[in-house]
Amino acid sequence: MKILVATSKPFAPVAVEGIRKVVEANGCQMALLEKYTEKADLLAAVADADALIVRSDKIDAEVLDAAKQLKIVVRAGAGYDNIDLEAATAHKVVVMNTPGQNSNAVAELVMGLLVYTVRNFFNGKPGTELKGKTLGLLAFGNVSRNVARIAKGFDMNVMAYDAYCPAEAIEAAGVKSVATREELFEKSDIVSLHIPATPDTIHSINAELVGKMKQGAILINTARKEVIDEPQLLELLTKRTDLKYITDIKPDADADFAAKLEGRYFATPKKMGAQTAEANTNAGLAAAKQIAGFFKEGITKFQVNK
Ligand code: 3PG
Repeated sequence: MKILVATSKPFAPVAVEGIRKVVEANGCQMALLEKYTEKADLLAAVADADALIVRSDKIDAEVLDAAKQLKIVVRAGAGYDNIDLEAATAHKVVVMNTPGQNSNAVAELVMGLLVYTVRNFFNGKPGTELKGKTLGLLAFGNVSRNVARIAKGFDMNVMAYDAYCPAEAIEAAGVKSVATREELFEKSDIVSLHIPATPDTIHSINAELVGKMKQGAILINTARKEVIDEPQLLELLTKRTDLKYITDIKPDADADFAAKLEGRYFATPKKMGAQTAEANTNAGLAAAKQIAGFFKEGITKFQVNK
């Protein structure tokens, strides 16, 4: 049984070694394709793989066609918008994710970026503090819950809106639940996006919504660039010179954002929310164990396709 780890953005070496141990302890063989830039390399590598572990690597019908022996793909992470679920189902390939395994890493990055932002990107001029500010979390999944936990340590007021999570569950976590997205944007000093990229959410962060934000507010995106309506956001922020946009996923129009929003925009050079040894190890090991459980006992917990 061959398990291919295909990561254009590699895991930390300690995570790769951990995955290898789990794979070999289960009598399987691990193959590694890291830092590849050509799709042809992925197509060649998947040809004889029975299982595949990926990160944000795009797994489409062409990859699935090339993977003649493939039975399972595990996205070592939370968001699986990079995998064509319909094509996987058509190819009788099970798709899973590893929810929660890298969420603390993303949450810590949110707080780090916020400190960096309110301190004027460390330019030495007086900034502000996070203490006492209102942080609005859009969606209340694993990353949000970790952001809320850490933000409370900063003495921030934390509120959340989630279309699918009941208000009682949000309140039970010690976070104020608000009734609408609009209310969240109106009442927060900072809004942090934690929605997945789905047909419902793509381009949903638009000028109308962001335009409701308070004077001097900050929008931070460590989720997906696709949830933003980029042209609308750029146009709005060009007019609303009090607002800031901070992101871990460079917009397609990064150069325009940087040029037009000087001092109010920051994008990490490469998406790095989940880039910690711990997150890589947690997600990578979970993926390897899920594959072993699937082959040995038919366990399909965390399957995301039908
Ligand atoms: C996720 O969905 O798990 C995060 O966005 C991390 O993605 P990455 O593995 O590509 O860094």
